[in-house]
Amino acid sequence: MTKIAVLGGGQIGEALVSGLVSAGYDAEDIVVTNRRSERGEELHGAYGVTVTSDNAQAIEGAEYIFACVKPYAIVELLDGLDISQDAVVVSMAAGLTLDTLEKAAGDGVSVVRVMPNTPMLVGKGMCTCAGGQHVSEEQLGGVVKLLEAVGEVAVIDEKHIDAATALAGSAPAYYFLVTEALIDAGVQLGLTRDVAEKLATRTAQGAGTMMTESGKDPVALRAGVTSPGGTTAAALRELEESGIRGAFFRAAEACAQRAQELG
Ligand SMILES: NC(=O)c1ccc[n+]([C@@H]2O[C@H](COP(=O)([O-])OP(=O)(O)OC[C@H]3O[C@@H](n4cnc5c(N)ncnc54)[C@H](OP(=O)(O)O)[C@@H]3O)[C@@H](O)[C@H]2O)c1
Repeated sequence: MTKIAVLGGGQIGEALVSGLVSAGYDAEDIVVTNRRSERGEELHGAYGVTVTSDNAQAIEGAEYIFACVKPYAIVELLDGLDISQDAVVVSMAAGLTLDTLEKAAGDGVSVVRVMPNTPMLVGKGMCTCAGGQHVSEEQLGGVVKLLEAVGEVAVIDEKHIDAATALAGSAPAYYFLVTEALIDAGVQLGLTRDVAEKLATRTAQGAGTMMTESGKDPVALRAGVTSPGGTTAAALRELEESGIRGAFFRAAEACAQRAQELG
């Protein structure tokens, strides 16, 4: 039995709960909090978890306390709770440093900082996490195991978490933007929007699966669809001349910089 408290049953909190229940964790051992009771009822109805608006009650006896509220609300939330030193606090908030989180959680409390991303909503998340000064290997391993219910997990040094935000936390939006642009381009070429959307989104899914499951890196995969003097080479030349690599370098830098400012 692993008692888990999820403080803040919004998008990320629900994804976590859904993954944990699907992975076989007992819904009776999971407590989720929200301020609005109707949201709690919704989550109880969908997953059978215990719900309450009382965060202090939710963390009683919890081994893992996932803080899934918005970043601006985390410090106040943790500050107001009397957290046991036997528990691990797991922050899912963008930006907030381990130092800030440890101060808010209280003396000697174990804290893990996680950067999740929204594909965890469909069990395909890429979470990165960094452990604070009081976290044991066993506790960090426990957090990784729980997060694996919603996808892949990488443990990294905190100094790299802003870069992880640029490559994983915020990155689903880049792929959505690329797909959206491709759909518009298809419409401009005369396809109906429905057809363009199907072609672009299924291709994104297929390319993603090839990158994770073929055992080949993106360079080899791209070379594999680029015949000499062919159509793909013509398209890639346009993308390169439009500065796509530079755009992604600058986007990643801007994202990491903003994450640091928020922290
Ligand atoms: N969404 C993303 O793409 C993404 C990616 C990476 C990281 N994150 C991080 O994940 C965290 C959660 O984001 P989200 O998108 O899931 O936000 P969200 O959908 O707004 O969820 C936050 C939830 O917390 C509840 N809440 C707020 N204050 C509370 C309190 N004092 N006690 C209990 N519950 C409270 C809110 O419900 P009530 O109003 O009913 O209380 C709401 O359901 C954020 O820190 C964010 O930085 C999100």
